[in-house]
Amino acid sequence: MESKKIVLLEGDGIGPEISEAVRYILEAAGARIEWLPCVAGENAVREFGVPLPQETLTAIRECGVALKGPIATAVGLENGQVKGFRSVNVQLRQELDLFANVRPLRSIPEIKTRYENVDLVVIRENTEGLYSGLELEVTPGVVTSLKVATKKACTRIAEFAFAYAEKHGRRRVTGVHKANIMKLSDGLALECYRAVANQHPAIQYDERIIDAMAMALVLDPTPFDVLVMENLYGDILSDLGAGLIGGLGLAPSANIGFTAAVFEAVHGSAPDIAGKGIANPTALLLSAVEMLRHLSLEEPAQRITSALTRTIAVESARTKDLGGSASTMQFAQEVVKRLDE
Ligand code: NAI
Repeated sequence: MESKKIVLLEGDGIGPEISEAVRYILEAAGARIEWLPCVAGENAVREFGVPLPQETLTAIRECGVALKGPIATAVGLENGQVKGFRSVNVQLRQELDLFANVRPLRSIPEIKTRYENVDLVVIRENTEGLYSGLELEVTPGVVTSLKVATKKACTRIAEFAFAYAEKHGRRRVTGVHKANIMKLSDGLALECYRAVANQHPAIQYDERIIDAMAMALVLDPTPFDVLVMENLYGDILSDLGAGLIGGLGLAPSANIGFTAAVFEAVHGSAPDIAGKGIANPTALLLSAVEMLRHLSLEEPAQRITSALTRTIAVESARTKDLGGSASTMQFAQEVVKRLDE
């Protein structure tokens, strides 16, 4: 079988450590992948002077698929000036029109959390909302951020969510919004969600206001299924969801467009533990599993998932964030040991 060419962006902070572990496991599982390493983030600034070089974008366009480690983004202002470069993550999503961010949030039986059987999918619109980057200082001390909603983007994310629900045997889609306050922007989103829902009568559709949704998820996430929402709400609720299944170290994600897909962990570059070799590679590994499934490489995807579950069941094999003492590479070796069990 011919190997698949995949762009690898190791990313910043813990990115190189967890990428190495994931590559090692994929190779051991027999996934025939030819990695094409490219740079983005701090490495790219050092090498090319920009955080997202054209060479990287072209490589992803040509391959169609990338696995990406976390990339750091500076926060806010410093001496009144915007700090650092614009988020590479947001730029990538916008440049490649990766309009759907898919975050499956499934309980891992061996990880003890408040709820068992969490099985949610957050589908987040990835290209507009308050992430449009349109911020303006009206006058000193007064700034504004523009929230953008278009019929095109709201409709295609709803179509994606319903198609996803049908393809994965799911029964219910919940539209999450704040249309009681943002009557125009979230109002438009709801109109689009409802129009698409009408074309999918076999899937139950309902709506929740974002704040009430956050509380409902904390009280009992188990009745929910697929959740569709605009950018910021999706960002926040998917982290909340990661908390429900045991933390950021366990939550995968996929950014999907019509011509390219970029798979990455939900978590960031974890500068507090970078370089120590103790990061948990599970979220990036689960993202890589989603990538293998996207490429129809079901056999290695299944082997890895099963070995991972059995590894996490052994407390001493876990990384520190899950109460163990294994290093990133020791954890990866434990997974590899169980691939053939
Ligand atoms: P973070 O997710 O990097 O870290 C939050 C906490 O979780 C830290 O205590 C960290 O040590 C821990 N953590 C995260 N991933 C872990 C892992 N794999 N194993 C063990 N512990 C882990 O969030 P933070 O600190 O807010 O952001 C750091 C940087 O990452 C920022 O520059 C931010 O912009 C960027 N970021 C990038 C993302 C991406 O590339 N998609 C997503 C989120 C943040």
